[in-house]
Amino acid sequence: MDQPKDNFNALFEITRTINSILDPGTLLETVLDIAIRHLSAERGFVMLADNLSESGYTVVAVRNFNSKKASDEFAASSSVVTSVLHTGEPVLTFDAMTDERFESSVSIMAQKILSIICIPLRAGDRITGAVYLDSSKSRKAFTEDAVKFLTVFGSLAAIAIENAQRYTTLESENNRLKQEVDLPHLFGNIIGKSEKWRKVLQISQRVLDVDAAVLITGESGTGKELIARAIHDNGTRKGKAFVAVNASALPENLLESELFGHVKGSFTGAASDKKGLVEVAAGGTLFLDEIGELPLPVQAKILRLLQEKEYRRVGDTANRKTDIRIIAATNKDLAEEAKANRFREDLYFRLNVIGIHLPPLRERKDDIPLLANFFVKRAAETYKRPVEGIHPDAMQLLLANQWKGNVREFQNVIERAVVLCRGTLLTKEDFLFDSGDQSALQKTGLTLADFERQLIETTLQEMNGNRTRTAERLGVSLRWLQYRIKEWSNE
Ligand SMILES: Nc1ncnc2c1ncn2[C@@H]1O[C@H](COP(=O)(O)OP(=O)(O)OP(=O)(O)O)[C@@H](O)[C@H]1O
Ligand SMILES: [Mg+2]
Repeated sequence: MDQPKDNFNALFEITRTINSILDPGTLLETVLDIAIRHLSAERGFVMLADNLSESGYTVVAVRNFNSKKASDEFAASSSVVTSVLHTGEPVLTFDAMTDERFESSVSIMAQKILSIICIPLRAGDRITGAVYLDSSKSRKAFTEDAVKFLTVFGSLAAIAIENAQRYTTLESENNRLKQEVDLPHLFGNIIGKSEKWRKVLQISQRVLDVDAAVLITGESGTGKELIARAIHDNGTRKGKAFVAVNASALPENLLESELFGHVKGSFTGAASDKKGLVEVAAGGTLFLDEIGELPLPVQAKILRLLQEKEYRRVGDTANRKTDIRIIAATNKDLAEEAKANRFREDLYFRLNVIGIHLPPLRERKDDIPLLANFFVKRAAETYKRPVEGIHPDAMQLLLANQWKGNVREFQNVIERAVVLCRGTLLTKEDFLFDSGDQSALQKTGLTLADFERQLIETTLQEMNGNRTRTAERLGVSLRWLQYRIKEWSNE
């Protein structure tokens, strides 16, 4: 047999394998098969370093071991492999039964193993695993030459294995990133890619199919209701009711009857039985907005609803069962509220099982350009304006602002600018008032409609009530202006 040429062919085969197989499992088995075939061994396995296993290594590919007795059979070779892994030296024996190194190995005797070859796999100076081959048929199955061959073979195999593992890690990292990039698609109308916002979307995505209560916290205008709706719309309860209740909007007694319903005659004005919102939301989601404002007696009832899934209509004697998911939101620090005895601690803990905190816009400035372009596009469509984007100077202005009113304020400011803009790009000037010193950015709390009205009224005054000149000045059509003025007179 032409040994060198054969060796060359086997090494050539393995280099080709390195380049063609990217799945680590398949690669390991192929490597093992090449070694077994080339050295006419009968059995073999490959071990790789594994931090999770007790010995620090696991068998990752096996050929021809009897699976039922596999653990016994591996035990036979374990002394050999352990030595190779620790010393980094290959082991070759022509007659294992009489080799004094294996005297103590009962199973080598039992299995009548004659020849063993085992070589380390290395990556740099680290030992990353071992290839073990044996034969019970012939003594001298493996020669010194075979050790040389297998050592070169081993170093190639180690590189191949590392590459394949790295590839797999990259691939799964890639998939993870892709999934993350896909997150905004799941929540289509929710904009933001900053690290902090991604975390918000990730948690929101994880709680879609869980029925536990969710507590969304964050300053005013950070998107609490938006997230609550997105969780409902993408979760298992989609298609069912989403009922929003603002806890600060009603006095205690009305709020209770609004939430849980009442029976006829339970209080003055209760002319008939009435369903509460809890019942309206059955099967769906009850969104308790501004939960920090919930009066203490109603808090107790919400806790009961969460714990027992039970409630009682005002004035009723019987409890009713319901199946709803509760999502609560607040811009208050409920832990603080609980400390001050304004909020039940037990309800706080119950709600906060899943807490989602929305960062203020000033803490996720990376998202400002994205949000700005999104709102520009939307406002341009809504108000039929030819605005296409934002000038870099204006963007700087937007980035520098503190946005105390967060996304809501930001959105209003952009929409106003789109309505006012006369060109196709929003410039710095579009974010400033005529007088120059009063920045639209600093004026918060106005809705777009309020702002529009204020601006039109001021301009009308300036133009002494002349509508044509007012329209010209504002860059709108006379018809549009008249339509607006008529609208106000109908209010
Ligand atoms: N990430 C976002 N992408 C797109 N629009 C957003 C985003 N966050 C908030 N908005 C918009 O900002 C406005 C305010 O959001 P939302 O009403 O959800 O805030 P909130 O936290 O409930 O405010 P408040 O505390 O005042 O009730 C909404 O018009 C919403 O669509
Ligand atoms: Mg809100």
